[in-house]
Amino acid sequence: MKLPFQYFGNPDSDKALILLHAFPLSAKMWQPQIDSLTRENLRLILPDLRGFGANNYFADIFTMEDVANDVAEMMNDLRIERALIGGLSMGGYVSFNLFRLYREKFAALLLFDTNFAADSEEKRQARFDLIQDVEQNGSSALVEKMLPNLICEFTKNHKPELVEKIISMFMEADTKAVVAALRGMAARRDHSHILSEISVPTLLIFGEEDKITNLETAEKMKKEISNAALVKIPNAGHYSNLEQPELFNDALVSFIKSVEI
Ligand code: MLT
Repeated sequence: MKLPFQYFGNPDSDKALILLHAFPLSAKMWQPQIDSLTRENLRLILPDLRGFGANNYFADIFTMEDVANDVAEMMNDLRIERALIGGLSMGGYVSFNLFRLYREKFAALLLFDTNFAADSEEKRQARFDLIQDVEQNGSSALVEKMLPNLICEFTKNHKPELVEKIISMFMEADTKAVVAALRGMAARRDHSHILSEISVPTLLIFGEEDKITNLETAEKMKKEISNAALVKIPNAGHYSNLEQPELFNDALVSFIKSVEI
C-alpha cells in the first residue's frame, strides 16, 4: 500500500533520512525533531504507517513485515536507493524487518527505544487483554493501561503539557488500527540472529528510564552490532524523542553528520 508521508528539507540532497513512528502515534511524533534535522541539508521523510495519522488503510492485522514492505515501496517510488532508516519502538520493529528483507537500502540504522526480540508469552497475552479493552472502551484504554508505563516520573511531574499532547495523540488513534497493530506486534518475529549481521553504522538512543524496551536490550544490541553507538537519555522513559528532545536531537544530528552516503 502507498504510505502517506511528510517531506521536509532539501529535495536534492543525497542524504535521505526516514523515521518510522511508534505505536499508537503517527508521523506527528517527530515534530520536535524537524527543525534540527532540516538544518542538516538532508531529505527528511516521515511516513504514517498503516492505519495511523493520515493513513486510512484497514486490515485485521498489520504485520511488521507488511509495514516494512510499504516502506520499501515508498523508497522505490521516491527513487531513494539508500537512506538512514530507523524508528522508535514499533518503528524499530519495522526497521528490523526492513533490514532483514532489504539490507541494501540501509546507509545507517537508527534504533530508538526498541527491541530486536519477539514478545514473550506473557507480553503477548497482555496485548490480547489490551485488544479486548480497546474494543470495549476505545483508545482511552491505552491512556489508562499503557501511558503510565511509557513516560518517566520526571515527565509526569514536570511536563504536563507534553503529557496532554501525548494523551491527545493516543485519543486520535483509530481503534481498528490500534487492534491491528497490537496483533501485528504480538505476531512479530525474533531478530536476534540479525544483530551480528548488521555492519552499517547504527545509532541506539534509549531513555534511561524506558520500562518497555529497557537499557538491558540496548546494551545487548550495542555489544552484538559491530558498528553501534549507544546514547542514554536521562529523565526520559520510552518516548525519548518527546521527553528530552534537545538531548535526543543532539545525539541524532551528530550521528547523521558522521554518516557518509
Ligand atoms: C511503541 O511505543 O511503539 C509500543 O510501545 C511498542 C510495544 O507495545 O511493544
